[in-house]
Amino acid sequence: MSTTNPQSDAQPDDVPRRGRALRTEDTPAAAARSRRLSKARRRVANVAGLMAALVLTGALYSTIAPAHAEEAGASSDADYEAGREIYQNSCITCHGENLEGVDGRGPSLIGVGGAAVYFQVHTGRMPLVRQAEQGPDKPVVFSEEQIDQLITYIQANGGGPAVPSGNLRDGDLALGGELFRLNCASCHNFVGEGGALSSGKYAPSLHDADDLEIYTAMLSGPENMPVFGDNQLTPEEKRSIINYIQTVTEMPDPGGAGIGRIGPVGEGLVIWVVGISALMFGIFWMGTKA
Ligand code: HEC
Ligand code: HEC
Repeated sequence: MSTTNPQSDAQPDDVPRRGRALRTEDTPAAAARSRRLSKARRRVANVAGLMAALVLTGALYSTIAPAHAEEAGASSDADYEAGREIYQNSCITCHGENLEGVDGRGPSLIGVGGAAVYFQVHTGRMPLVRQAEQGPDKPVVFSEEQIDQLITYIQANGGGPAVPSGNLRDGDLALGGELFRLNCASCHNFVGEGGALSSGKYAPSLHDADDLEIYTAMLSGPENMPVFGDNQLTPEEKRSIINYIQTVTEMPDPGGAGIGRIGPVGEGLVIWVVGISALMFGIFWMGTKA
């Protein structure tokens, strides 16, 4: 009986305590459960919010996008006018009032096409600031929009190869490598590092060029570079070459420093020199210890 007494004594105390435990988060298990529940609720709310935002963005975009497309169609006249204005401010002194060229200053641009304009202006070669052996690759002067306007204006006066669109590097990598070695490596080196040509000219490195610059370089053949029209290299072959150039450019150097990609002989020589030096150092160090 003395064993039941403490229990019955404890009961008045116990009951309210148990009652509290049932409805609040006093016990760790219940607290954890309710925390888990509210976390799940919060997660559901987050997902719902995200979905709502996505739907809203989609709806907004679908109302704005067609308006934008219509605008682009209607504004090609405006683009032409804007392009003509840029031309008259920045190009006319060397290329003439009607794109006919100016003796001793710049060639005619009639029929060079949008591709040549994109290449020359997007790589910063044009507008040329001074007569040099070769227009250097400078920071770009015009915005993408202004370049488009110049392209519209010059393309409309005499036509010529237009700027291509779409994915420009979906060609075959192996074929691209082969075509590059056949058509480009003689001037630009096997991996596009570039190199010197005769009489102060050079073929630049291709590693800073974007897909469209490479494509339009082939279409327009700047300076000493030959024109690779679609009869010389089909669009498919051009995209293969671009794939090759960009793959080589993005390739990491697996053995650490690439040493200018001069190849296994050069790299072996560096390892040999560094290794022998380390060995000599070790020998002398042991010698001084003894
Ligand atoms: C200071 C003179 C000068 C100015 C200004 C100039 N150019 Fe040129 N441009 C040249 C010369 C010289 C060449 C040919 C040599 C070369 O390519 O470097 C040339 C070549 C070009 C070519 C390549 C033609 C071809 O046959 O492929 C294009 C396209 C061109 N310029 C566009 C422009 C545009 C667009 C502007 C204005 C934004 C401009 N240039 C301003 C001097 C000039
Ligand atoms: C006969 C030599 C020669 C050959 C062959 C040649 N190029 Fe070029 N390339 C040049 C020269 C020279 C320039 C510089 C032109 C300039 O500065 O106006 C150049 C410039 C370029 C540029 C612009 C690089 C930059 O960002 O400044 C690209 C891209 C290019 N070439 C790609 C090619 C491709 C691709 C091939 C092969 C299909 C090729 N070239 C074949 C001589 C050559």
